[in-house]
Amino acid sequence: MAKIELKEVAHTYHPQAEQIDYALKPFSITWNDGHRYAVLGPSGCGKTTMLNIMSGIVTPYSGRILFDGVDVTQKPTASRNIAQVFQFPVIYHTMTVEQNLAFPLICRKVSSDIIKKKVYEVAETLNLHHHLTKSAKKLTADQKQLISLGRGLVRDDVSAILMDEPLTVIDPDLKFRLRRTLKEINEKYKTTLIYVTHDQNEAMTFAENIVVMDHGSIVQSGIPQELFEKPHTTFVAYFIGSPAMNMYSCSIENNKIKLGQQKLKLDYDLNRLKSNNIKLGIRSEFITLGQDQQENTIACNIKNDEDFGNYRLLTCHFDDLEIKVKINRKEQINADTISLHLPPDKCCLYENDVLVN
Ligand SMILES: Nc1ncnc2c1ncn2[C@@H]1O[C@H](COP(=O)(O)OP(=O)(O)OP(=O)(O)O)[C@@H](O)[C@H]1O
Ligand SMILES: [Mg+2]
Repeated sequence: MAKIELKEVAHTYHPQAEQIDYALKPFSITWNDGHRYAVLGPSGCGKTTMLNIMSGIVTPYSGRILFDGVDVTQKPTASRNIAQVFQFPVIYHTMTVEQNLAFPLICRKVSSDIIKKKVYEVAETLNLHHHLTKSAKKLTADQKQLISLGRGLVRDDVSAILMDEPLTVIDPDLKFRLRRTLKEINEKYKTTLIYVTHDQNEAMTFAENIVVMDHGSIVQSGIPQELFEKPHTTFVAYFIGSPAMNMYSCSIENNKIKLGQQKLKLDYDLNRLKSNNIKLGIRSEFITLGQDQQENTIACNIKNDEDFGNYRLLTCHFDDLEIKVKINRKEQINADTISLHLPPDKCCLYENDVLVN
């Protein structure tokens, strides 16, 4: 295992172009040994490019990659000891499951009794131990993907396992089980796992740390709770959470936020804001049912009331604006109007789409 650092790394696939078209804009990040990460972002934001730079498939246009402090930027894939699992399983169809799992160790000239022991141990962890003598091509898509993963796990010298949307081929029920297996593997082998996805639920349930990317940049890195409660940019606020964060353009009047015709007071000195591009965001989970007289309370009309089984989602209107609020299923609401309280500490204030409070 190793600490992996990317220092001022940037990449373009068109280095000759007059104006550089970055697939990855210059950034630095450290992946700590033994941690479980998810890289989350929309299609084309640079997730695969970043993984390929770490494994050595792609040499970055600029910047350096360090494994435990050693510069490996110019080193080939083979010497980096990275195991990479791709979207579709890469296995040898002519071999048995056991031969597939043993192959990386045979290549490294490991003794046959150690190979046997290690292969069985990993196969058991992945629940493949009953299939060891079967031909790999006879297994299901998810089992094949487990073999790809197992080939990384059998090696003791692996610095990190990089997974690029590895569960795409797998049906949703099995995805859940596999994610749990991956967590157990991380806990058992202390392997650094970096898992690329564009599915926020996958990222939130799998990772200790999530790295959110957009247009070739890392826009936020943190634990799931931070991303949910304090998204650093309006992009993260929209991208994480379901529904997306309620978000409004607003103005400032007498040190209060003016939202439609409503005035809200935040624990933030609004005189510090320099721009006119101010937005206020609040998650539907953090809005409470309030009293009319209470500060930061807005009277709204209820337009829609949907039952999602474990909560209800109200869609309400005030001053031509829409606000979504999650409420308890058992909440009794007997009118078409409702007062919603927006707690100041739960409001996120954005200047030029960057969080300020
Ligand atoms: N081999 C390549 N040659 C030229 N451009 C490329 C190449 N691979 C990727 N790109 C471009 O680089 C940018 C980042 O692509 P990348 O594949 O890293 O994104 P991604 O986040 O992995 O997307 P997806 O979720 O669709 O897999 C995109 O604009 C893409 O079109
Ligand atoms: Mg990709």
